[in-house]
Amino acid sequence: MTRKHPPGPANFNAAMGLTWRHGASLWWNPIRFVTRLGHTYGDLTFFRIFSGRAYVVNGPELIRDLLVVKQKSFRKLDRVRMVLGSGFGNGLILSEGPQWLRQRRALHSIFHPSMMARYAQITVARTRQLIDEWRGRERVELDHDMTRLALTIIAESLFGADLSRQAAHFSRLAFELSNIYAGEEYSPFVLPDWLPLGGKRRKRAIVAEFRGLIRDLMDERRGADQRPDDLLEMLLGAINRPEVEGGMSKDQAVDEAMTLFNGGYHSSSMGLTWLFFELAKHPEIFARVRADADAVLAGRDATLADLPALQYTSMVVKEALRLWPPAWEMFARENVEEVELGGYQIAKGGVFLIYPFVLQRDARFFPDPLRFDPERFSPAREPSIPPFAYSPFGRGPHACIGAAFASMEMVLVLATMVQRIDWCLAPGQPRTVQPKPFIAIRPAKPIWIQPRLRIAAETPRATDEFRGQEVKGYKTEQVS
Ligand code: HEM
Repeated sequence: MTRKHPPGPANFNAAMGLTWRHGASLWWNPIRFVTRLGHTYGDLTFFRIFSGRAYVVNGPELIRDLLVVKQKSFRKLDRVRMVLGSGFGNGLILSEGPQWLRQRRALHSIFHPSMMARYAQITVARTRQLIDEWRGRERVELDHDMTRLALTIIAESLFGADLSRQAAHFSRLAFELSNIYAGEEYSPFVLPDWLPLGGKRRKRAIVAEFRGLIRDLMDERRGADQRPDDLLEMLLGAINRPEVEGGMSKDQAVDEAMTLFNGGYHSSSMGLTWLFFELAKHPEIFARVRADADAVLAGRDATLADLPALQYTSMVVKEALRLWPPAWEMFARENVEEVELGGYQIAKGGVFLIYPFVLQRDARFFPDPLRFDPERFSPAREPSIPPFAYSPFGRGPHACIGAAFASMEMVLVLATMVQRIDWCLAPGQPRTVQPKPFIAIRPAKPIWIQPRLRIAAETPRATDEFRGQEVKGYKTEQVS
């Protein structure tokens, strides 16, 4: 027999729907709030929030039901559209129904394996450029530099654009914007963007700058002699041509470009930040990644074809995405019709919250969950992980369209870096860092690492006489 409400916090004020205590903890530390709910009430928790009904979904089977089996009964919450709508309009991340399906099919072509080889080349080249910049630097701000890197990779891959000079500026803007988004996401009310308030003005200005960048790239491309086969070309070809698959208006094309550009660096940059942070703390794992890269690449640049062979490096990336899933929270869903979930009959209009961050640190599925242990993803052990307990890229039809791109990027950035540099936490950098749940989860304070040009074990020092020589298949680089 189905029941009406799953268990949940008993002391909620039914009339107002929210006690100060729960409201405040949801606001200040949503991760702690949700983790506690899971521990106390199990895989499906119910609570009232103002006049609404919220359900926290914490079990792999329930997540499968929601995102795959019964996905037609759910859609992304209108509130998500209110927060992100001015930036991404009707882009893939916010659209639903037949329009979403048409766009998704059309956009798939830019992640075709034939395009990925070029993206891999760009990834390695841009990583080498960052290594050059790091040369001689005492310490670098990891999250800022990983955002710059991911920005330049996605801009060149999808738009054929060199954003190296503007990357620092856009990295700062991106940080500010995600801060604004997070503030709105957790505030009790989302106010319309047109209001003449300071925060709204700033949001409008940043969004306008990003959309202006996309429009400029489109205009430049129209007049260009060289027209690479990329996202921009595909979008320009689809504007005002309904006969083309995915034909769209200019505004829709800007929405899609904005979605892929932002989706393309936002989560990847945080994925890379946490990955590099963990490796700075685990020299023994770092050494194994380097051995993997050296064995497979023998000093040459990595390519797309090397991915399957870089097995340990891929395991490390998967483990970083487990412990620090950038998409710590999926976009909230609402049920558009009555639905049965976990034995409860849930009336239309409930709000459903899923937290990969909490599930991927659940000891039922990941023993000793806070330990950074890439062996969980060894070929022998990975199959025993319940599939829906590990979903850093989401699941079902709305799962990340850029998952293959992001995985390729993280593995190749890491392999390229370990080939050439060592890094450790900078002096004074704490080993424990508080995460801050923005749209993607990021460190609450900047993380500083100390990069050093690689000195091969058998080389006494990378002194003048070693410059430019081959050392066991690895060519030492000029020290500035
Ligand atoms: C480590 C990097 C990344 C992570 C962890 C990540 C994570 C996710 C997740 C969890 C979702 C599903 C959200 C939900 O259902 O609520 C998603 C959707 C999406 N992601 Fe990613 N993503 C990453 C990189 C990328 C990249 C590189 C791109 C584009 C180049 C991208 C573009 C998108 C888009 C467009 C969607 C919406 C798909 C749809 O609704 O059909 N993401 N991503």
